[in-house]
Amino acid sequence: MHTFQPCPIDVFDTNPFTLIGKDWAVLTAGNQQKVNSMTISWGGFGVLWNKNVCFVFVRDSRYTKTLMDSCDTFSLTFFQKGFNRSILMYLGSVSGSRENKMQVAHLHVNYTDNIPFIDEGNLIIACKKLSATRITPDTFLDSALESNYYKNGDLHTMYVGEILQVLAR
Ligand SMILES: Cc1cc2nc3c(=O)[nH]c(=O)nc-3n(C[C@H](O)[C@H](O)[C@H](O)COP(=O)(O)O)c2cc1C
Repeated sequence: MHTFQPCPIDVFDTNPFTLIGKDWAVLTAGNQQKVNSMTISWGGFGVLWNKNVCFVFVRDSRYTKTLMDSCDTFSLTFFQKGFNRSILMYLGSVSGSRENKMQVAHLHVNYTDNIPFIDEGNLIIACKKLSATRITPDTFLDSALESNYYKNGDLHTMYVGEILQVLAR
């Protein structure tokens, strides 16, 4: 297992558009018994309810969603530049309901205060769930959203999590 240091949120000055949208993150949810991870490229960081938060969007069809719903916490793992992108593609295209993705990808789960994350990452954001909101088409103000992203009805749930810890290697 690698050693991670707590990183004060004030010194966290990374561009979220690049970090999540371009470099991608791995969302991990679960507990010591059952855990699963999937790649994400939609989400963000900010301030809500006077807390530092992160938010992610998970479709109904994702196996990770069952663990997001049954557990109180989740994490985002980011990897150093040059990390094998095909591993992120794998975690983002195969379902953990069918394969033990950690085993196949030769990745390891580590825990911080019982919150699972990927040990091979170099930046970890550990969160406590604050809200889960299913985003339904009746809330869309732009009708193109439904036809562009939800033709098959596989809707997203937005999870807002309070950032409890930022860990860096
Ligand atoms: C680059 C990339 C970004 C992705 N972003 C998201 C996302 O933000 N939300 C989502 O629900 N699925 C996203 N996916 C798809 C899931 O990662 C994919 O369906 C995954 O296999 C689900 O795994 P699971 O069934 O084990 O949870 C993304 C996939 C890739 C490759």
